[in-house]
Amino acid sequence: VTTQGRRTKIAIIGAGSVGATIAYACQIRGVAQTIAIYDIDGKKTRAEVLDLNHGLQFTPVASIIGSDDIEIIRGADVVVTTAGAKQKPGQTRIELADTNVRLAQSLMEQCVEVTPDALHLIVTNPCDVVTYAALKASGLPPGRVFGSGTVLDSSRFRYLLAEHCRVAVQNVHAYILGEHGDSEIPIWSGANVGQVPIDQYVPTGGKPLTDEDKARITHDVVHAAYEIIEGKGATWYAVGLAVTRILEAILHDENRVLPVSTLLDDYEGISDVCLSVPAVVNRRGVARTLDISLSGEELAGLRASADAVRSVAQSLRL
Ligand SMILES: NC(=O)c1ccc[n+]([C@@H]2O[C@H](COP(=O)([O-])OP(=O)(O)OC[C@H]3O[C@@H](n4cnc5c(N)ncnc54)[C@H](O)[C@@H]3O)[C@@H](O)[C@H]2O)c1
Repeated sequence: VTTQGRRTKIAIIGAGSVGATIAYACQIRGVAQTIAIYDIDGKKTRAEVLDLNHGLQFTPVASIIGSDDIEIIRGADVVVTTAGAKQKPGQTRIELADTNVRLAQSLMEQCVEVTPDALHLIVTNPCDVVTYAALKASGLPPGRVFGSGTVLDSSRFRYLLAEHCRVAVQNVHAYILGEHGDSEIPIWSGANVGQVPIDQYVPTGGKPLTDEDKARITHDVVHAAYEIIEGKGATWYAVGLAVTRILEAILHDENRVLPVSTLLDDYEGISDVCLSVPAVVNRRGVARTLDISLSGEELAGLRASADAVRSVAQSLRL
C-alpha cells in the first residue's frame, strides 16, 4: 500500500532469469500487492507464475499474475524491463545493443499505451544505451524512465571492500559510477567505512588498502558478471535484490540516494547520455542528481565513460 493507502502494482517484462528473480525478491519483501509478469513466451511465464504462487503461504500477501498478453501490465505503477538477449560467455554488454535497443523501443511504445502513468525501470543490457533509447521512444520526462545502472555494481564494490575491511557491507559507503559496463569507475575519493576514509581504514588484524588491492577490487567488480556468466550462464540473484531495492525506494517514496542510470544534463559538463550518478529516487522517479566532489582522475573516467556510451547510442542513430 502506498503512503496514500492505494494498491500498488509492479509489472515485469521478461520472465527470464532476471525477471523471475526480481518477482521472487519482490514477493519475499512484500514490495507491492500485485506483481504482473509479461513475456512473449506464455508457457514459461505460466510456469514461473505458478512456481511463485505456490510459495505465497510463506510470504506477504500478494497477487502474482502473468501472461503473453501485454494487457496484464495495465495500471502498473512501475514497469521493469528485463526482456532481451543476454551476454553469452565472453560477450560484452555493448554487443547486445543493436538487438536490445530495437526491442526496448517497440516494447516502450506498447507499454506507454497500457500504463500511461507508470515509471519505467530498465534492466536490459546494455542498460545505459537501452535506457536512453527507451526514454526517447517513450516521449516521457527524463525522471520517469531510468535504468538500474550501477546499483548492482556498487553493491559488488561494497561487498569486496567490506570483505577487505572486515565490516558489514551496510557500513561501507562507496559508489561505482558511469556505465553499467566495462568503462564504469570506482569512486575511491569518497569511499569510507563509518566515516573513516577508505585509505585510512585499518582492518582489525589487517592492513589499509594498497594500490594493488584497489586495482584488484576494481578489476573484480568490472569482471564480476563475466565470471558468473562463465560459471552459470547468467547473473540473477544480486540484480534481483538491487532492482527490488530501487522499486522499494519508488513505491515507498523514500527519497533514497541510488546510482541509477539517468539522462544527464550538464552534469560536470556531461549531457545527452544516460549514465549512473548518485540520484534521489522517490515515487515520482528520479527527482534530482547529486553533485559530488570527484578527483581529477575520477572526473576524467566519468567523461570517458559518457563518451563510450554516447558513441554506442550514436552508432545506433539514437
Ligand atoms: N542491468 C543489470 O544489472 C543486469 C544484470 C543481469 C542481467 N541483465 C540483463 O537482463 C536481460 C535479461 O537477462 P536474463 O538472464 O533474464 O535473460 P533470459 O534469456 O533468461 O530472459 C529474457 C526473456 O525475455 C523474453 N523476451 C524476449 N523478447 C521479448 C518481448 N518482445 N516481449 C517480452 N518478453 C520478451 C524472453 O522470452 C525471455 O524469457 C539481459 O539483457 C541481461 O544482460 C542486466
